[in-house]
Amino acid sequence: MNLHPFLREDLADLTPYHVAQPPHRVKADANESPFDLPPEIRQELIEAIAQLNFNRYPDPSSDLLRTKLCEQLGVDKTEVVVGNGSDELIGNFMLAFRRPEACVSFPTPTFSMFAILAQVAQLKAVGLPLDDRFDLDREAWKTHLDSHEINLVFLSYPNNPTGTNFSAEVIREILSRSDTLVLLDEAYYEFSGQSLMEEREQYPNLVITRTFSKAYGLAGLRVGYVVAHPAVIDELNKVRLPYNLNRFSQLAATLLLKRPDRLAQHLQLIRSERERVFNAMVPIDGIHPFPTDANFILFRTDSPAPEVFQRLLDHGVLVRNLDRPGPLQNCLRITIGTPEDNNLFLDGLRG
Ligand SMILES: Cc1ncc(COP(=O)(O)O)c(C=O)c1O
Repeated sequence: MNLHPFLREDLADLTPYHVAQPPHRVKADANESPFDLPPEIRQELIEAIAQLNFNRYPDPSSDLLRTKLCEQLGVDKTEVVVGNGSDELIGNFMLAFRRPEACVSFPTPTFSMFAILAQVAQLKAVGLPLDDRFDLDREAWKTHLDSHEINLVFLSYPNNPTGTNFSAEVIREILSRSDTLVLLDEAYYEFSGQSLMEEREQYPNLVITRTFSKAYGLAGLRVGYVVAHPAVIDELNKVRLPYNLNRFSQLAATLLLKRPDRLAQHLQLIRSERERVFNAMVPIDGIHPFPTDANFILFRTDSPAPEVFQRLLDHGVLVRNLDRPGPLQNCLRITIGTPEDNNLFLDGLRG
């Protein structure tokens, strides 16, 4: 069959998302948690599975999970929707607010899914370069947003892959605009401790996404959520698939929420390791780490990044190679792991 007449020309340059996974001992390329489910939660989950009806659809509104989540966040259930990872919800947001005149804007470099999902949704998308401190360029953003009627702004806070939070003042300036909706992607919020969640009443155009994939260590089960004004949530629910979050994931995330002590323990370890690894990288010849608020460190290498990438891989450590012309030239990204993982990385880096 000739598919050609059916193809979308605007997707011709898009390649399916793929990350190579050469053999490795330590996986430090995707900003996941090094900690799997604590054994007692795993046990509880196994016991709870015995009670699940797999022949029935899951609760379409993930009510129990949303209830627990709202209790912890101190928000109303009308302000929350959960999804199959925050990726899905970012895509839902694009679909829900996809007016022909809307312009999607995000800083560059940033999380690659913003551009991909905008392209899939057939939205005009513009990347605005970050300044040399990897922060938002206030004037450039103002000029750019002024030139469009309707703006959908996507900010990763902290930013992946650069690692730091943007200036909250510039974000507030953007939020003050009546022609702009801002999706603030707080996937790494737990590691930074900084959020604009408390400002959502002041800015009803603020849409926050978060995930269980990073600090909570549940990447394999795909659970994310949005906190936003109920009117925004209503629109997201119109485009969301009815049973988007399966029964098993709803249950696992609900159980995890009952153990904030485990989360706090893991966070403390990742934060202290982050500092230790950063400080250990600074004196290494030819290695230049950038400051970070997240669970990963971006670093530049004096020797070609692919060579350093391969040296680390030969040492058993898989990092992300972000090397490309522009601000990420010769840049790699390492996810903070257990102390043993991090030591292996530091050994490999020292050569
Ligand atoms: C900024 C950012 N947002 C969202 C995600 C994806 O989150 P989820 O697993 O909830 O889809 C990632 C994953 O790397 C990310 O870096």
